[in-house]
Amino acid sequence: MIFAANWKMHKTQGEAAAFFDAFLKKSLPQDDRFIFFPPFTALQEVVKLLQKTPIFVGAQNVYFEREGAFTGEVSVAMVRELGVRFCLVGHSERRHIFGELNAWMGKKVAAVLEGGLVPIYCVGETKEERAQGATERVLAEQLEAALSPLRTFSADSFVIAYEPVWAIGTGSACPPKEAGRQAAWIKEWFQARGVATPIEVLYGGSVSPTNAAAFLKEPGISGLLVGGASLDPEKFYAVIASQ
Ligand code: PGA
Repeated sequence: MIFAANWKMHKTQGEAAAFFDAFLKKSLPQDDRFIFFPPFTALQEVVKLLQKTPIFVGAQNVYFEREGAFTGEVSVAMVRELGVRFCLVGHSERRHIFGELNAWMGKKVAAVLEGGLVPIYCVGETKEERAQGATERVLAEQLEAALSPLRTFSADSFVIAYEPVWAIGTGSACPPKEAGRQAAWIKEWFQARGVATPIEVLYGGSVSPTNAAAFLKEPGISGLLVGGASLDPEKFYAVIASQ
């Protein structure tokens, strides 16, 4: 299983150090993979803190150009040099708060792959889209936008996070069966496009120590992308230990 912690705009370097002071005392299951996504300002510190551990570090966002006059943006090479191995692309907060367009997603995913990082591409429908029964149309549009510019890619260099927008940070998670169905649908979407190895699909949206096990039992789900519950070492460990 993959356990990914999206810290969003939380934790200074000092707060990150305090988190790992507690978290690294726990014994982590050997077969699982762990990825932390701290804010840019804590990336270097977190890479240093995790140097002697098998835990990976990821960036929450990058811009697709290599360099240039793009005030406030960060390139793939800049985060890779720090020791970052993964990158979130298309998180719903990037799309809905910061206006990132579906049209950018292909360029972002391509830039992340070209730069040698593994993209975790986030997809998910809004509450209205779900109510209209449009979930699969929205997922298909988001997947097309990111993947149509790519000629080939292998399933092991790519992860999808199914994160229904209405479930993120709301405390009302997606029913696990529904999340499992969407994850299976995403896997089939890739298979229909000739990707033989099943792609890994994470679920994200109000994951907690009490609901995590139900998601991890769904056959289509390969792990969790955890926001709020990843900020506290005890809570995040409880999510991991719930399987
Ligand atoms: P949440 O966030 O667990 O706080 O709902 C998940 C995410 O946005 O990745």
